[in-house]
Amino acid sequence: MSQENEVETTGHVWDGDLQEYNNPLPRWWIWGFYASVAFAIVYWFIYPSWPVAGHFLTGFDTVTYVNNKGEKKTVHWNSRAELMANMNQYAAKQKPYFDKIAATPFKKIKADPGLNDFIASSGRTLFADNCAACHQAGGQGKIGFAPNLTDDDWLHGGTYKAIQQSIVNGREGVMPAKGLDPNMTDKQATALANYVLSLSGEPHDATLVAQGSALFHGAAGCFSCHGANAKGNQLIGSANLTDKIWLWASSPGAQTKAAKVEAVKQVILTGINDPNSIHKGVMPAWKGRLSGEQIKVLTAYVHDTLGGGE
Ligand code: HEC
Ligand code: HEC
Repeated sequence: MSQENEVETTGHVWDGDLQEYNNPLPRWWIWGFYASVAFAIVYWFIYPSWPVAGHFLTGFDTVTYVNNKGEKKTVHWNSRAELMANMNQYAAKQKPYFDKIAATPFKKIKADPGLNDFIASSGRTLFADNCAACHQAGGQGKIGFAPNLTDDDWLHGGTYKAIQQSIVNGREGVMPAKGLDPNMTDKQATALANYVLSLSGEPHDATLVAQGSALFHGAAGCFSCHGANAKGNQLIGSANLTDKIWLWASSPGAQTKAAKVEAVKQVILTGINDPNSIHKGVMPAWKGRLSGEQIKVLTAYVHDTLGGGE
């Protein structure tokens, strides 16, 4: 080997002839090493680094932020203070918009492209943080859980005022088990379920519709909450039963006629938000948890951006 003559060895020899070359470290590696040493020293001066006598070197860099009590603080650099400072900056940028929204009526907010953009972006964030767990990310809701907010079907009303009321005070639609007839038989519930399905043209047994209709408008008392036309009453949040839009009755699994009848029957027999009901869902009140401006942004977001507002 020619290298044997050019390169110095360490002088170690194993098994009689196995030697170790003493090659110099590559130049790029040496420079990289010095550069990282220099970088580390500069870093120690700027940022918190070594532990020293029960504390640590805090570094010369500082962060100034306003804490929750409104006090201005300057501290050595740390990621919590930096986060606070970033949030201060963000809040300061948002404040003029929130102030403007607080002072502007809903219709004018909708007509103002700048405010509309703000509603779409900050509304999306507020919705994702507070509402999407139940109403899903796009507001499309989930059967058996929380209503769709993107369609034009409203339990409690789709005007700005009604939506704001829903958010401020929360909502709880209550339907008693068996309607107003505690002695309702299983057969009667089946007839009622078929009548209800017939109202929106879903698969049903036509021979039971007349009996179901008589019960609906009579002994079972359904008409007193859902109306004689079964289109519901937003004052008490009773569902429109004629529009093929279901929140509780028709689970996505109910593909066959029998399964649909069974799903509607379950609602009729056990009610909604009734103590023994399997169907439970309450819209929490946000008054006190979100600011008035945040609630206004969310109201406009649900009405204008999600798009089902009346
Ligand atoms: C814990 C689950 C849950 C959360 C969180 C939640 N909701 Fe609801 N929401 C519901 C349920 C359930 C209903 C239906 C209540 C009823 O009528 O029984 C509802 C109803 C509504 C309604 C009325 C819909 C209609 O058809 O009239 C609006 C508007 C609404 N929610 C908006 C929001 C907004 C905005 C947020 C976030 C600030 C939010 N909800 C957070 C569960 C939730
Ligand atoms: C005391 C008032 C009241 C009476 C009486 C009543 N309902 Fe309801 N019903 C409601 C309310 C309120 C809701 C919506 C609850 C919610 O969404 O939280 C509802 C929902 C329903 C639903 C679910 C709709 C869906 O979207 O899945 C069906 C089906 C239904 N009612 C059928 C009936 C029938 C049939 C009767 C008669 C046996 C009846 N209701 C009697 C108040 C009533």
